[in-house]
Amino acid sequence: MQNQDSSDKLPAHVAIIMDGNGRWAQARGLSRSAGHRAGADAVRTVVTRCRTLGIRHLTLYAFSSENWNRPRAEITALFSLLLEFLQQEVPLMEEKGIALKVFGDVDGLPLAQRTALRHAISRTAGGQHMTLNLALNYGSRAELVRAIQSFVRDGVRPEDITEASLAARLYTAGQPDPDLLIRTSGEQRLSNYLLYQCAYSELYFTPVAWPDFDESQLDAALAAYAGRSRRFGKTQEQINGC
Ligand code: IPE
Ligand code: IPE
Ligand code: MG
Repeated sequence: MQNQDSSDKLPAHVAIIMDGNGRWAQARGLSRSAGHRAGADAVRTVVTRCRTLGIRHLTLYAFSSENWNRPRAEITALFSLLLEFLQQEVPLMEEKGIALKVFGDVDGLPLAQRTALRHAISRTAGGQHMTLNLALNYGSRAELVRAIQSFVRDGVRPEDITEASLAARLYTAGQPDPDLLIRTSGEQRLSNYLLYQCAYSELYFTPVAWPDFDESQLDAALAAYAGRSRRFGKTQEQINGC
């Protein structure tokens, strides 16, 4: 019996933990920054493929709140790659109808990146085909704390705090929860990514390092997703019957 929830449908929202740039570079005798540069190329490939396939929401973990603990030179390299990426990609995104959003504490980013992101977000805001969310200076626990603080600040009564009203105060407001969460490079953990939103996401772990994650790797992840049976607490018989 076909599973109507996934096998004949693409995920509406794919979230990716793009991991393994450092090890990819190390294995080739390159600097970690060179690994991140190769990782940025994989971002271009995957965004284009998702747009072609008709995936409506793509969320990429680009820099976690905890990544500030990395060496200064690596952080600098990552942020200059971000600027380069925005300069090159924003006109193309605009052309392809891709709206850029940022999940995370933008105010905590360096001024040049903050400015470029604000510009990119407003320039692509009309994009109707796909939303590309970049999780930058993002941590899921911080996101939840921020949402709770906003309830208190707005004087919301406890009985008005619901799953829906909480979801509306997360960065993902207005977008569906990720159907599929992919993590590359063999690690099998969430690293503080979309903890609330991924309650029912299908998880896909691959040993492939992020710079090697290409169209065929994405297609393999989507095929695995299509073979999953999503039940959301129901029995398989109930799913088959509806
Ligand atoms: C992912 O690759 C990119 C970021 C976290 C910014 P890593 O840099 O974590 O690569 P590994 O895990 O060290 O190989
Ligand atoms: C998660 O990868 C963050 C990003 C991909 C941006 P990390 O490499 O930072 O995660 P841990 O530290 O191995 O859990
Ligand atoms: Mg890593």
